[in-house]
Formats: sequence, structure tokens, C-alpha cells
Amino acid sequence: MTYLRLENITKSFGNLIANDNINISIVAGSIHGILGENGAGKTTLMNILSGLYQPDLGQIYLEDKPIKISSPSRAINYGIGMIHQHFMLVPQLTATENIILGTGRNFHLNLSAKYREIKAMAKAYNLEIPTNVKIANLSIGTQQRVEILKVIYRQAKILILDEPTAVLTLVEVNYLLNILRQLARNNHTIIFISHKLEEVINVCDTVTVLRRGKVVDTMSTGVTTTHKLAEMMVGREVNLTQEKIPTQKGNIVLEVKNIEVKNDLGLSAVHNLSFQLHSGEILGVAGVDGNGQRELADGINGLRSLEKGEINFADNLTDKFKVGYIPEDRQKMGLILNFSIARNLILKLFKFLPFCSYGFLQSGVINNYGKDAIEKFDIRASHPQLKAGQLSGGNQQKIILGRELSGEPNLIVAMQPTRGLDIGATKYVQQILLAHKQKGAAILYISTELEEIMAMSDRIAIIYEGKFVDILDAATATVEQVGLLMTSGAK
Ligand SMILES: Nc1ncnc2c1ncn2[C@@H]1O[C@H](COP(=O)(O)OP(=O)(O)OP(=O)(O)O)[C@@H](O)[C@H]1O
Ligand SMILES: [Mg+2]
Repeated sequence: MTYLRLENITKSFGNLIANDNINISIVAGSIHGILGENGAGKTTLMNILSGLYQPDLGQIYLEDKPIKISSPSRAINYGIGMIHQHFMLVPQLTATENIILGTGRNFHLNLSAKYREIKAMAKAYNLEIPTNVKIANLSIGTQQRVEILKVIYRQAKILILDEPTAVLTLVEVNYLLNILRQLARNNHTIIFISHKLEEVINVCDTVTVLRRGKVVDTMSTGVTTTHKLAEMMVGREVNLTQEKIPTQKGNIVLEVKNIEVKNDLGLSAVHNLSFQLHSGEILGVAGVDGNGQRELADGINGLRSLEKGEINFADNLTDKFKVGYIPEDRQKMGLILNFSIARNLILKLFKFLPFCSYGFLQSGVINNYGKDAIEKFDIRASHPQLKAGQLSGGNQQKIILGRELSGEPNLIVAMQPTRGLDIGATKYVQQILLAHKQKGAAILYISTELEEIMAMSDRIAIIYEGKFVDILDAATATVEQVGLLMTSGAK
């Protein structure tokens, strides 16, 4: 039975048509996947369903009755709940406080009763969370469970999950997919967005592919393949394999000696860690999220101080030594969302000519620079004055890449550089990094995606509880070997 139906939904931003005459029927109790390249219009469509945006044209039907989702609270009244691509929880509040925030109109809030209620609900749905811990101190996977409980608490029948697995470890992904299957069996309807095609085929019943704002097709996942889906998304034949380019390893560019770095809670997160990185080399850092990767990357970039040890950069290069840093959290660390694309692109250069002259920013020059970068890095945006916050998730990532890789850095620290990118953009970013390596850049490639590490690295360091438990030659290392080291630290 069709539960939710979108008819001719159209939405434009200026002269860009983000959703172009979209027709989709979603069956009650099903898991319906939405696929499409970065900027294809997935999040926009979901924002319309959750009442954040109004369509310019078209009609939405719930159980065959026309409805108007004029606000997020109307969406909740219709039983539609969205778990956003970038979480919207209040970090200073506890899980329970976040879940109940804005619900109920009682003047006497019995918080301890609420804690008990949320605990019981979490248990019933197999979504165990520490109910009285502040969000800021919870892992990403746990925060996501809080988001899911938040919409279930509001009695959502339709759950929209926008790229829920992009930030999860493999174990957490499997956990989540099981939860979704269980919710669907209990007659929840789920809309699932992901760039990972295997995942979509694995968990969804039906999938709709969008391309540049239009529906390409909707089909049962039983009759399609990852290859066919990729082709539909991109609109042409795609090659998903990544060839390694053999390069000559050069001199040492980075030397890390016995460093110790603390995390935000003041605990030692990296200890006694040493390695050397050469020009023309990619050292992959494999590991389960939260084993010190963030602190290691920040330590090398000088964003966190070293408790012990030292870091040396190639001294014969110091006067023009440049580091490119692709941080893990693009919205908090990588961009100023309120700034235009053009300004975000010159955050490291704004003091210098030609961008600044006699103390004044040269807006014409900055704008042209932005235009070139949009072209060069295939950022899907109509003009460089658009705010970074108005771009799709994947296109935000491309701005960071555009900024950090311009000016030929000697050292690149890339943390989850392809997170949230579609298959084409992922391949493109990997090719750019390989090209920089060929030109002699040393690259520290930190990722929780084992396949990506295996495909990109010359050597693979396995980080476990803040230490490199081993550094292997990528030519001979196996997935099983690295996987075991990642999860147990044992050889
Ligand atoms: N508030 C806005 N103002 C202007 N343009 C916008 C706004 N929101 C989205 N867009 C544009 O609409 C297009 C579709 O964006 P959307 O976020 O829906 O893409 P997406 O399919 O979710 O991509 P991704 O996979 O990268 O998350 C993009 O070109 C984006 O820049
Ligand atoms: Mg999106």
C-alpha cells in the first residue's frame, strides 16, 4: 500500500532547480533508498518532506490524502521524522533532555520520570544509550541513536535518514541496518539515503535514483546491481576501480618521534607514536574511529600541543613548506558556513596579494578565484557568492579540498577525505591525491574505511588505542590482517 506519495515536486533556489518534477511512491513498512550524486537534490527533497522547505510546485499525499507540510512541527503531526545529515542535537544537554526537548506542555517537568521512560523506550527498540550523559561526550554512533529515539519519541511512522552511515564504523553500520530492518518489520516506513551502493541494495526494498534534480528511475533492489545504480546516478558508464600509480619515494618530509597528545577530556589519546613519511609516499592510517586518529592529525597540524616527543618537518624545505589539512569535521573545522564559497577558498591567503591590497580585500579577484575553483574542483554551485552552508554536503567537502590542495603542499594530512562524497567525487578526490603524490607530496591518509586505505596506501599503519601497533607494506598486506590489527591490536 502506498503510504506517502510525492507528485510533481519542484523546488528551485534562484535559477538552480534542485528538485525537478519529482514523482515517488513509498510503500508502507518498506525501506526506500534514495541515491544520487552530490548535489542531486536528495537532502532538499527530504527537507521538503520534513517541513523545512516548501515546494514551489507539486503535491504530497499521505495515505492518498493531500497534505501540506508547512513546518517541521506539522511534519511531526503527520508522523514524519528526519534524522539529519549533520546532527542537530544540543551538545550541552543530556541524551534524555535532547529527546524530550520541545515536546509536552507541562509546567512541572518530572525529569527523573522522563529518564526512566526514555531508558525503557531505548531498551524496547534495541537502541541502548546512556540516557544521562551529555551529547558532547557521546560517540557519533551513539548520538545517532539519540536522534533516532528522538523521532520515535515523537511517534514518527516515517523515518528519514540522510546519509546515516557516512560517519559510522562498520560495526555501527551493521547495528544500524539491523535496527532499520526491525523498525520496518514493526510497520515503520523508512527513507534511507546513502552513497554506499552495497548498503542500499543490502537494506532497501526499493530504490529511487536522482540525477541533477530529476528522477531517473525507481526499482526493486532485487533486480539491480551496484554497477547499474552507479551508471544511473552518473548518466554514463563508470569504472569503480582505482589504479595505484607507482612512484619514487623521496626524502623524509615528516618525522614524528615518540609523541603523546591528549584528547578534549584531558586523557592521553596518542602515546609513544613514531613514524617517518617520505616525499612521494602515502602512509595510510587504518583504525576504528576513536583510536587517536583525530588527536594525531591535530598534533601534526599544530592544533593540539604535544605532551611529549617531537615532530620534525623537512628542514631544507622550511621556507616554502606547506601543509594541507583536510579535517574530519567539515562543518565545524573545515569551513565558515556563513562565508561565501569564494571567501572560504582564500581563508589561508586572504592577507596576501592579489586577494588583499593596502589592507582591503579585493572582492573582484576573490570572486574570479572562486569561479576558477568551482570549475576546477567540479563544485556544483551556481556562483562563488553562494554561502558554503547552502551547498550540498559533498560539495562543501570539495571547497575544503580546493583550498587545502591549491599551492602544491609538501605534506597533506587527509582525514576521511571522501566521507559523504558520491562515487564519482570519491574517485576524483583519490585521483587528485595520487597526482599530488606523484608530484612529490607526502600524504598521511587517515580513514576508517579499510577498502579505501588498501587502495590508496603505499604503507599502512594500524592505529589502536593511540599507538601504531604495526606498519605494513601495502603490496603484501591483506584485508584480514589489517582488519584483525584494527579491531584487536593483536598481531
Ligand atoms: N538553501 C539553499 N540555497 C541555495 N542553494 C541550495 C540550498 N540548499 C540546497 N541548494 C542547492 O541545491 C542542490 C541540491 O542540494 P542537496 O543538498 O539537496 O543535494 P544532495 O543530493 O543532498 O547532495 P549530497 O550528496 O552532497 O548531500 C545543490 O546544488 C545545492 O547547492
Ligand atoms: Mg545531502
